Amino acid sequence: MYRIAVIPGDGIGPEVVREGLKVLEAAASRTELRYELEHYDLGGERYLRTGEALPDSVLEELRGFDAIYLGAVGHPDVAPGVLEKGLLLRIRFELDQYVNLRPVKLYPGVETPLRDKGPEDIDFVVVRENTEGLYSGMGGIQYKGTPHEVSTQIHMTTRFGAERCIRFAFELCRKRNREKKLTLCAKTNVLTYVHDTWWRAFNEVGEADYPDITRDYAHVDATTMWMVKNPEWFDVIVTENMFGDIITDLGAMIQGGLGVAAGGNINPQGVSMFEPIGGSAPKYTGLNVACPIAAISAVQMLLEALGEEDAARRIESAVERALVSGRIKSLAAGQMGLSTSEVGDLVAGYAGE
Ligand code: IPM
Ligand code: MN
Repeated sequence: MYRIAVIPGDGIGPEVVREGLKVLEAAASRTELRYELEHYDLGGERYLRTGEALPDSVLEELRGFDAIYLGAVGHPDVAPGVLEKGLLLRIRFELDQYVNLRPVKLYPGVETPLRDKGPEDIDFVVVRENTEGLYSGMGGIQYKGTPHEVSTQIHMTTRFGAERCIRFAFELCRKRNREKKLTLCAKTNVLTYVHDTWWRAFNEVGEADYPDITRDYAHVDATTMWMVKNPEWFDVIVTENMFGDIITDLGAMIQGGLGVAAGGNINPQGVSMFEPIGGSAPKYTGLNVACPIAAISAVQMLLEALGEEDAARRIESAVERALVSGRIKSLAAGQMGLSTSEVGDLVAGYAGE
């Protein structure tokens, strides 16, 4: 019996999470999977009501679950950074979810803006470091509001942090067993300290323990170019936190948009958290028009992390069937031709067959 914490969060989060849970239930009805859910009221509304983004006691409770399922974080009436730092990043850091795993996979039936590219070309995974880099929170502002204002935001890399992320990526690459190519995405020609640490960790770990994996390197600017021009070159990409944030939004676009892009915040030894990466999309809130596929795929990733392969495969194939069914006109919010809940019903129907 798994215990799953559910944080629907802000904006369209609750709407898409509802559909993810519908599909989970359908898949469970056909497998041995047993679980119980605990819902947590966290996010912008709660913050505006109580001034708390994530009470310490709730954080402690979260440590006791098998997994966390998150909808979205971000509220138009809350200043930028408050919920992001106070809730999302706090969970990532405190639960030491040191990998942000983002598959970039174009499913058949989904339109990509890349001309002449299809599902056989767009199928790779980005392993984003999730606890360091520019997200460390180090730095500050001096002489604020004066002409002498100085601000710093420090990119912090530790050898330990880079290496554990790199090892995860090598293992994943081996497990995928496709091209067996791991690309390090960095900027070694400019970030000559922090990315030197990454570069040496990458090569030392690869040489010592992963002779079967081909090591590849691309600067981050070139990576964005190849992702558009030759996405078929990638198998697994490993990268630091901020670069990973940026390239995975590009990845989401080439796989069909934020409506299909899911991600996992992984602590392989601890509690991991899964989410659609699209954010709260305030302008679509409550309209039942947002695409729930990303949230459904996040459930698939959650089940994979728990080792529930049968249920995970059942959800992925249900998603695939829904996407080729011709019933969903587009994955853009408001243009699906179906409502959020109708798309959820469609996928749940296949998952429960
Ligand atoms: C993401 C988001 C977050 C990030 C924000 C909301 C803090 O953009 O998960 O990619 O930058 O990591
Ligand atoms: Mn992002």
